[in-house]
This record gives sequence, structure tokens and C-alpha cells, in this order.
Amino acid sequence: MSQATHLTSRKVAESQSEMTELVLPNDTNTLGNLLGGRLLHFIDLVAALAAFRHARSHVVTASMEHIDFIGPVHVGDVVILKSSVNRAFNTSMEIGVKVWVENAIAATSRHVASAYLTFVAVDANGRRVPVPAVEPETAKEIRRYEDAGRRREQRKVEAERKRAIVSA
Ligand SMILES: CC(C)(COP(=O)(O)OP(=O)(O)OC[C@H]1O[C@@H](n2cnc3c(N)ncnc32)[C@H](O)[C@@H]1OP(=O)(O)O)[C@@H](O)C(=O)NCCC(=O)NCCS
Repeated sequence: MSQATHLTSRKVAESQSEMTELVLPNDTNTLGNLLGGRLLHFIDLVAALAAFRHARSHVVTASMEHIDFIGPVHVGDVVILKSSVNRAFNTSMEIGVKVWVENAIAATSRHVASAYLTFVAVDANGRRVPVPAVEPETAKEIRRYEDAGRRREQRKVEAERKRAIVSA
């Protein structure tokens, strides 16, 4: 499928999304720390929101590619998750997610995780559909856009390497 040039491009700000979650005892391990899988669920949801708003169609998670758990999150913490579409390709989009823990009393926040995910836009029958291009505006958005292109190229190289191993 070729790049959907007929679709109007959209600015990053149009689909940026945010979620706030309070960490409850049921979300934690025996030490009272947020379970990694629970955080992945929040990350998947906030990323899906940005992808959905950008594509204005159904989206499915194709991959959760890179996740850094930088610091622990404790029961009672307020978790803020922010997502943006770094770049859109043909039917897929790379979404970046950054996660903070907020200390409302001290009015400070601590960066605890970052992730990149790829979502694919599909119609009601699950068939892939083209997505609009992203129009990066700020220096940060342009850097993320270019980095997303490099990561896609690296994925292609890795996929090719795996195919070669399987067919050897
Ligand atoms: C994601 C999915 C739609 C891809 O379909 P596919 O027929 O394998 O499609 P292709 O290999 O032709 O790739 C389609 C696009 O997805 C991208 N893609 C596919 N697999 C990918 C992966 N693992 N990582 C990143 N991008 C991926 C391709 O680069 C391509 O992007 P483009 O259209 O922008 O160029 C399909 O694998 C699927 O439905 N997976 C299940 C999704 C799901 O249920 N997610 C929730 C998990 S519980």
C-alpha cells in the first residue's frame, strides 16, 4: 500500500493524549510497587488514544517496542501518562509515551518510564487503512519524527536478518 498522500496531514498536538491513574493496592506487588504489566496496560491505552485521534479509525497494537522502567511507582502514587504520534507511515504509526509520578503536595514530578509503540489503523472489518501523515512543528517533534524513521529502518533490517536465518 502506498503512502496515503491524499489524506490531510495532522499536527502532533491534535492527537496528543494524557491519562491520570491513582495506583491502588490491587495494581501492586507484595512490596507495594506498581506491577510492570499494569503499567504496560496504561501505556497501551494512552498510546491507543493518540493513535485513534490521529487516524480517526480503529487501531490495533502491532508492537510495544522499547520500554524503559526508570524508577519504581508505589501504591498511592498519582501516575501521569502522555502520548504523541511521533510519525505516521502507510497504515502504521509510532507513538511515544512518557510516564511521570506526580507528588501533588510538593508540586514535583518524577519521570518513571518511556515507551515506543506501533499501532496499525484498521476498518470495522479489520482491514488495514491508510493514515494521515504527521506534521511535526517544534524542534522536539521534528527530532522524534526523524528518530521514528530511523527506528523503522532498523526494524526492517532486523526483520530481514531474521528472515535470512529462518530460510538458511
Ligand atoms: C498488526 C497487524 C494488523 C499487521 O498486519 P500484517 O498483515 O502483518 O501487515 P504488514 O506486515 O503488511 O504490515 C502492516 C503495517 O504494520 C507495520 N507492522 C507490522 N508488524 C509490525 C511490528 N511488529 N512492529 C512494527 N510495525 C509493524 C508494518 O511496518 C506496516 O506498516 P505501514 O503500513 O505503515 O508500512 C496484524 O499483525 C495484527 O492484526 N496483529 C494483531 C493486532 C492485535 O490484536 N493487537 C492487540 C494484541 S492483544
